[in-house]
Amino acid sequence: MNETTLKEGLSTQILGQDITFFDQTDSTNLQAKQWCDRGLCHEGHAFVAQRQTQGKGTDGNSWESGQDNLSLSLVFDYDEKITTLFPLYPAVALAKALRDKHHIEAHVKWPNDVLVGQKKIAGILCEGVPKSYMIVGIGININQVDFPEKLDEIATSVQIEKGTVTRPEDIFADFLSEYEQLLYSNTDIRQEWLNHTKMVGKRITAKQDGNQIKATITGISNEGFLQVENSQGETETWMARRGLDISTQY
Ligand code: BTN
Repeated sequence: MNETTLKEGLSTQILGQDITFFDQTDSTNLQAKQWCDRGLCHEGHAFVAQRQTQGKGTDGNSWESGQDNLSLSLVFDYDEKITTLFPLYPAVALAKALRDKHHIEAHVKWPNDVLVGQKKIAGILCEGVPKSYMIVGIGININQVDFPEKLDEIATSVQIEKGTVTRPEDIFADFLSEYEQLLYSNTDIRQEWLNHTKMVGKRITAKQDGNQIKATITGISNEGFLQVENSQGETETWMARRGLDISTQY
């Protein structure tokens, strides 16, 4: 994988028109941030790495990203499209690309994980500087078939699900194409999210600041927040935030 092979299959007009490729870097989100802070990025600039040494996950966790996976960060201008719905787009786009182009039964777990069954195939970390830029970082497990013991039960990959080796460039192109179509058209992303999730109607367990709770998912609000019924039968609206972790067992 390199800048040229990544560009070859692209059919987009905005996303991935600029690509910065690293054989190895600390974190593509960190690199994107440094480039943005120096005023060097445009809308859609993609930072892609074969391997990250300090991959960042949500909630301050680290993200393991060896060479069989795709690590990328996309830069967006901080304009009117940056609403509370914005973080839903990348997960829906990837789930749609994996379903339509690779026949993988991917589905989205709010706020922005992509699962197959109960295992995670991709994670997303959105970070931004208000009024300046947004960075959407995506880690997709592509050809990894052996995971460390602690991840074995909770992680899967494109190769595991398809049974064949897949070029990361193909996933990159298919994902960017779906993402661009969803983001720059008048998509009802709430409806697209509902079409690509298995959460609604399910009873879930979650950790909220260390406490285990149970709830039933009832839907998603106009703002993209999760609507649930708590164990007392009361309606609640959950915003994505540090300290909230919903189990994939639903
Ligand atoms: C999660 O914890 O689920 C989010 C993981 C996000 C990982 C991606 S890999 C590309 C980008 N660079 C990073 O350091 N993190 C994100």
